[in-house]
Amino acid sequence: MVYSVSQGLSDLVRILESLVKIPVYGVIGFTHGRVVYWSNVEGVLGLWCLDPVSGEVKRLTREPVHSVARPHPKSRFIAFTKDVAKGRELEKPFIISIHGGEEELLADTPPMRFFSMVWDGVKERLVFSAATPSGMGLYMAWRGGFERLMSINTIMYPTDIEGDLVVGAGLLRGNPLSMEIFTYDLGTGELRVYTPKEGSVNKEPMIRNGEILFESNFKGFNALYIYDLSTGELRSPEMSYRDYEEYGGVEHLAYGWVGDGRVWAVVKRDGRSRAFVDGREVPSPEGTIGYLAINEDCSKAYYSVSTLTTPHRIYEADLRSGSYRVVIDNPIPEELRGRLGRSYFTRYKSRDGLKIPMYVVESATAGKPGPTVVYVHGGPWSEIMDSWSVMINALSIAGYHVLAPNFRGSTGYGEEFRLMDIGDPGGGDLDDVAAAAEWGRGEGLASKIAIMGYSYGGYMTYLALGRRPDVWDAGVAGAGIVDWVEMYSLSDALYRKFIEVLFKGLNRELMVERSPIKYVDKVRAPLCIIHPQNDSRTPLKPVLRYVEELLKHGATFEVHVIPDMGHVVKTVEDVMRILLPAILFLNKYLKAQ
Ligand code: 4NP
Repeated sequence: MVYSVSQGLSDLVRILESLVKIPVYGVIGFTHGRVVYWSNVEGVLGLWCLDPVSGEVKRLTREPVHSVARPHPKSRFIAFTKDVAKGRELEKPFIISIHGGEEELLADTPPMRFFSMVWDGVKERLVFSAATPSGMGLYMAWRGGFERLMSINTIMYPTDIEGDLVVGAGLLRGNPLSMEIFTYDLGTGELRVYTPKEGSVNKEPMIRNGEILFESNFKGFNALYIYDLSTGELRSPEMSYRDYEEYGGVEHLAYGWVGDGRVWAVVKRDGRSRAFVDGREVPSPEGTIGYLAINEDCSKAYYSVSTLTTPHRIYEADLRSGSYRVVIDNPIPEELRGRLGRSYFTRYKSRDGLKIPMYVVESATAGKPGPTVVYVHGGPWSEIMDSWSVMINALSIAGYHVLAPNFRGSTGYGEEFRLMDIGDPGGGDLDDVAAAAEWGRGEGLASKIAIMGYSYGGYMTYLALGRRPDVWDAGVAGAGIVDWVEMYSLSDALYRKFIEVLFKGLNRELMVERSPIKYVDKVRAPLCIIHPQNDSRTPLKPVLRYVEELLKHGATFEVHVIPDMGHVVKTVEDVMRILLPAILFLNKYLKAQ
């Protein structure tokens, strides 16, 4: 039997379509009386706005949006980029009014990979860092023109602007284990670097009245600080309420100044988050909040919340009365409701004894022990939180338990844990992923086990099948990495730097040793490869060479190259093109007797 249980192909397509059509929502700001958010509700990732008084929503953009600058309360324009090269992540900057109308090309820059941008709502100009194959630069664009402010040879992220002063963070000492704050004066061209302690990690400065609010680990844990740029005084933000402190958050997902000078923050702990204004918890349901947008008179806050089993909804909280209400609902279609599993958070021991945090989603239909997938997230500096994931839920409704480990290198558990993969990608993190499979068998949850991931998760899939062949019954590698040396030669200036950081310098020997192609002859489990044709982060070319090697060694595999698609999944159709072959393959190799 090829398809599982009662699942014929048409059934599978129907429930999968019904799942992938559940929209995602992410609040990104508030301006001119509107909540600005992104969503794929009409099939394409785009910008929307909501009038919270009338409840009216408006779609602002038509074509897929690549990245968005935080809306500014003074400007009715939202700045964003669009890819102009069929997914190759060569972008140009655009603006669109909150009141709708046509989007406008802000400036005819060369197509580049934008990696951070800030919208100056007062002067309506965009400051951004971007990469080409040959180099990286800090740029400014305004209606009709642009300028390269400086060329840069490291990763620098502008995060805010006040007057002529741009602030941001980056690897300004060239140390892969630290990050420093910078200021750049648009008037004088002066660049200044600040760190409270050499070697510490400092992120996302937000500026107000010449003071910056930022996250730092310089005391050994992540906390918020305020630094006065003119006096050099460093202090902790004062908060009127104690909820924030009592929550004991580990990392800050987002933070900023409320208009009147108080501080707000969205704080993570054990894969969930909560929001606080002036230290007081913003009322919300349990789950993961991504960002907090506060209205002009600081009376209302808007955010989206989801969990692994409840899709995103947008809420409005009344900061005075402490109540909240749903402003954009997202009901689960009836036929999916009973199929979604239950999820929980746990920690297990890896090979060297390190405790690894993990989310488990048990399929409602899989039985125990049942077919199980270890789902490896990308990044590697990201995490699986208790938030909606179409990839994980597709596996769960198709009858697979899912183990989603936050292996060393993941965010969410402090800088020490996150930095553990630097100089060791595909080392300790691979042990963690293999230990997740062993945990699943030991708990009596898993019968056969597959490994599946996209991007860095695709890399781990290839490497796991070659280096730990005894652990897996099958693998699904999406947009993966098979050869770090060839990938380096095909990467643009940003990704070359990224690889240098990950490998703690250009360590070719380690890059060869950690490349899946070196172990291709050891792959025993059936492998499903899915790769976007125009991927410019994890290029297809080395994967085609890997496929030739698989063929030579007589491995069982299938390959799906997705035409006209890039690394970033931007449409519901793209999600379907990845998930359908993945699940058909798993049904054959994990469920068939
Ligand atoms: P991601 O993609 O997992 O989607 O963030 C990656 C792309 C490149 C690299 C790692 C991950 N890299 O190491 O170059």
